[in-house]
Amino acid sequence: MNDPTSAENKRPAPERTRPADRQPEPGIPQATARSPRFSLDRDLILSQGTSLRLAECLTKLRHRKTIYIDWDFGSVDPMGLSTILNFYGPPGTGKTMAAEALAGTLEMPFMALGIAELESKFMGETAKNIQAAFEAAREAGALLFFDEADTLLGKRLSAVTQGVDNEVNAMRSTLLIELERFDGVAVFATNFAKNYDEAFRSRISYHVKFDLPDLAGRERLWDRMLVSGIPLATARNTLIEQAAAATDGFSGREIRTCMRLALPKALHEAEGLSCTAQLAAKHIEAAIAEVRSAHADISNAQPASASLATDITTSRRLLGVDRTH
Ligand SMILES: Nc1ncnc2c1ncn2[C@@H]1O[C@H](COP(=O)(O)OP(=O)(O)O)[C@@H](O)[C@H]1O
Ligand SMILES: [Mg+2]
Repeated sequence: MNDPTSAENKRPAPERTRPADRQPEPGIPQATARSPRFSLDRDLILSQGTSLRLAECLTKLRHRKTIYIDWDFGSVDPMGLSTILNFYGPPGTGKTMAAEALAGTLEMPFMALGIAELESKFMGETAKNIQAAFEAAREAGALLFFDEADTLLGKRLSAVTQGVDNEVNAMRSTLLIELERFDGVAVFATNFAKNYDEAFRSRISYHVKFDLPDLAGRERLWDRMLVSGIPLATARNTLIEQAAAATDGFSGREIRTCMRLALPKALHEAEGLSCTAQLAAKHIEAAIAEVRSAHADISNAQPASASLATDITTSRRLLGVDRTH
């Protein structure tokens, strides 16, 4: 994230609040391009359908200069050179990771923009900063990634108050204009694809659906998480089979969470017994039970109506109108 060689980092640190008579600093300090850490083939465990869809996107991306410039297809399809992808599906299924991996596979720098960056830096300057993000991505030849894009592009925000609404609309038109001018690769990720409005939906070249892993997918995820350095008390295959069978409905992220919980359990037990730590089936089982009960608590605590209120709160924070200081 903080690549000291990047041009963005040479700019002075941004201020959270700015006197009215000063112009904003250009650029989005947190949205610096960086080298991707993942690649699609090596790191992602996806269903066949999702893999195939991504492979199709890759083919188009790899050959778009040939198709649109060398073959001059751009003369009849000027908008087709840019590629806007939309990754949608349940949380924790690898959308963010896949965006970074796509950049890795394409050997492009990766530039991510999420609510965290928007919330702390945009301060009502959202539209200008979106322009700056596209400019920076263009300069760096980076893949531009918008996480939680439904918040930026959703239709539900029309329920917020008039002033905020205008600003949200201004920000959205900027985004649509920039997308039209952009000749690079932009990826949007969302857990709620249905929130996108039509103007935006029509500009997306590929919709890629991410699913919760099936049994075979979970086995591969557990296999990936049980890295070779971890000492095991139970046969590796047995651990993988049992854990995969016990985690029906879990996302890749939840499987990672299980491992994050299970490993300290193994160490804690070994400390108590003064013996060498080894990960056993019981540690994984206990971790799975914890994640499953947290899972149940969360789904009980969030009735469907909570999501509109959350959208409004997020958009108000995003636009800096929800601050008490
Ligand atoms: N399909 C997957 N393949 C490999 N790892 C995954 C996958 N899905 C989730 N993970 C693990 O969970 C983490 C969080 O996933 P993330 O990409 O943030 O999900 P999303 O963006 O869909 O909410 C990843 O960094 C990875 O460790
Ligand atoms: Mg994500």
